[in-house]
Amino acid sequence: MRPNLLRGLSAAAALAVCAGTLLLAGSRADAAPGCRVDYRTDQWNTGFTASITVTNLGEPISGGWKLEWDFPGDQRVGDGWSATYTQSGQHVTAASPPWGGALATGGTASTGFTGSHSGTNVAPASFSLNGTTCTGTVPTTTTTTTTTTTTTPQNPGEPGEHVANPYAGARGYVNPDYQAQVEELADSTGGTLGAQMRTVGATSTAVWMDRIGAITAGRGLRGHLDAALTQQTGAEPVVFTVVVYDLPNRDCAALASNGELQVGQNGLARYRTEYVDPIAEILGDPKYRSLRIVAIVEPDSLPNLITNTAKPKCAEAKSSGAYVQGVQHALNRLEPIPNVYSYLDVAHSGWLGWDSNLGPAVDLITSTVKGTTAGVNSVDGFITNTANYTPSEETNLPDPTLNVGGQQIRSAAFYQWNPYFDENDFGTVLYERFVAAGFPSSIGMLTDTSRNGWGGANRPGAATGTTVDAHVNSGRVDRRLHRGNWCNQSGAGIGARPQADPLPHFDAYVWVKPPGESDGTSEKTDGPNEEGKQHDPMCDPAFRGDEQANGRNLTGALDDAPHAGRWFPEQFRMLVQNAYPVL
Ligand code: BGC
Repeated sequence: MRPNLLRGLSAAAALAVCAGTLLLAGSRADAAPGCRVDYRTDQWNTGFTASITVTNLGEPISGGWKLEWDFPGDQRVGDGWSATYTQSGQHVTAASPPWGGALATGGTASTGFTGSHSGTNVAPASFSLNGTTCTGTVPTTTTTTTTTTTTTPQNPGEPGEHVANPYAGARGYVNPDYQAQVEELADSTGGTLGAQMRTVGATSTAVWMDRIGAITAGRGLRGHLDAALTQQTGAEPVVFTVVVYDLPNRDCAALASNGELQVGQNGLARYRTEYVDPIAEILGDPKYRSLRIVAIVEPDSLPNLITNTAKPKCAEAKSSGAYVQGVQHALNRLEPIPNVYSYLDVAHSGWLGWDSNLGPAVDLITSTVKGTTAGVNSVDGFITNTANYTPSEETNLPDPTLNVGGQQIRSAAFYQWNPYFDENDFGTVLYERFVAAGFPSSIGMLTDTSRNGWGGANRPGAATGTTVDAHVNSGRVDRRLHRGNWCNQSGAGIGARPQADPLPHFDAYVWVKPPGESDGTSEKTDGPNEEGKQHDPMCDPAFRGDEQANGRNLTGALDDAPHAGRWFPEQFRMLVQNAYPVL
C-alpha cells in the first residue's frame, strides 16, 4: 500500500487568510426557528474555501434543512461538501445531504465549498435557515430540550462481547512468523542493536490479507487466529489486527501495491465471493469468539477516489462503484460478528489535510458507510497514516498559524497551507467531522505509528529561523524531502509503541505496517510479480519527475528494495536505529 499525496484546490497558492465569525442580525419571522451561522474563508488570489457551521437554535428539524444567502460580489460556488449547492446569480442555496437532514435543537451541521471570485470576497451579510433569517438568538417561545451525554463505561468485556475500545485492556497479537524473521537478523547483529531488534519482533503487528492466497498460504488466517488463542493466557484478551486489502484495481494511483483483481475482469464479484466471504466465514468461527479482532479496511481506497481520479484505474474504480461497493460488502460481512471491530482508512494529513480534500473525503466515506446494512454502526472508527511516515506530533511546530516574518508557518513550502502538520491533529479533526456527519461519539481513531518516529541524530530539538521556510525546515521532525514521498523513506524510524487510549478520541496507536517490510521495489527491471506488484518510480531513489506526487523532489526512497511486503533487512536496521522514542 502506498499512501501518496495529492493536494486540493486550496493548497498551493494561498496568499492571504481571512477568518471571521459572523453572528448576524436580521429580522425574524414569528414562531420561526432560531439559528446561528459561522462562515469562515481561506483565501488565495481569486480562489477561496468556505467552511460553514450552522447551529439550529429552534425546534428540531427532521425533514431536511436549507441554508440560503446572497453573495455581495461576484463569488461563484465550485465544489461543495456535506450539502447540495445551487447558485442562481448571487443567490446560493445549500440543501442538506440525503443522510443529514435532521438538526436537533442545539445541533450543528458543517458544510463548505470551494469558490472563486474576481472582485473582493466580502462575506454574505445574512443567512437564512429554512426561510428564517439567522439572528444568532434563541426565540423565547422555544422549549429547550436537554441532551444528556452517556459515556460508555470502561468495561473489560465478557469474551465475545463488543466493547467500546478493542485495544483497551487487551494485549496485541505477536505474529510468530514476523518475530522469527526479526530474531534471525537480531542474532546475526548482536549487541544493543540486536536487543532492540528483538523488542520490535516481540511487538504486535498487523497481519495483511493482501491476496486471496494469503487466506490459506503458509500459516494462513486460521493459523494466525489459532496462534492468537495460544497467546491468550489468563483474563487478558488478545487483540488481533488484520488488514483487508484486495479491492479490484488496488492501489489505483500507483504501481507498487497493485493487486490480483481488476474491475474489468469481474474483480468486484471475485472480491466478494473469493476474498471477503471466506475471511468473514473464518473470523465468524465461534472458536475465535474470545479474541478481539480488528479489521483495517482497505487502506487508500476511498481517498484515491477523492484526489486521484485523473488516473484511469482510479476513474474506473470510481465510475464502476467497485471501491464503494467492495468496502460496503466487507463492512456488511464483518459487522454481524460481535467480536470484530472495523476501522476504515482515511489516508493521512499530508494527503487529505486541506479542507478541499478533507470535506469531500468525509462526505464520501460517510455516504459509503451510511449505505451499509448497519449504517454508521458498521464501523468502530477510522485509521490514519496506514503504512505512511507522517509524525504523530510535530513537537517543534505546535501551531500552524504561528507568524514568522509576517507569514503563517503553514504557508511554508513543506506544508503548502495544509493546516494539519501531524496525525494527532488530523485524527482529532476527523473525529469531530465524522461525529458532526452523524457517526456516534463512541467511534475512535487509530494511527499507524510503526514508522513515523523520525528519531536519530537528525531529529531537531527546536525550530529556529526568521523566514517561514527556515523555521519549518529547521524544526520539523518529518525529514522527508516532500510530504508526498511514501516509499521506503530514508531516515525514518519506528514510532510510538502500540498503546491504547493515547489521547482523547483515539482508541490506539497501532503498528499496521510491519517495520522492515518494503513499500515497493526500487528495481526498474522488476515487472509485475505473481501478486501484481510492480516497480513504481516513487520507489526509485533517482526519480524526481512527478509534480503532483512530490513536487519534483527526489523520492527519498532507499535503494535495493524488494517488492512491496517483502522483508527488507537494511530498512529494518535503519528503522530500529532511528526509533523515537528510543527502543
Ligand atoms: C503490500 C502488502 C504487504 C503490506 C505489509 C503493502 O505495501 O502491498 O503486500 O502485505 O504492505 O507489508
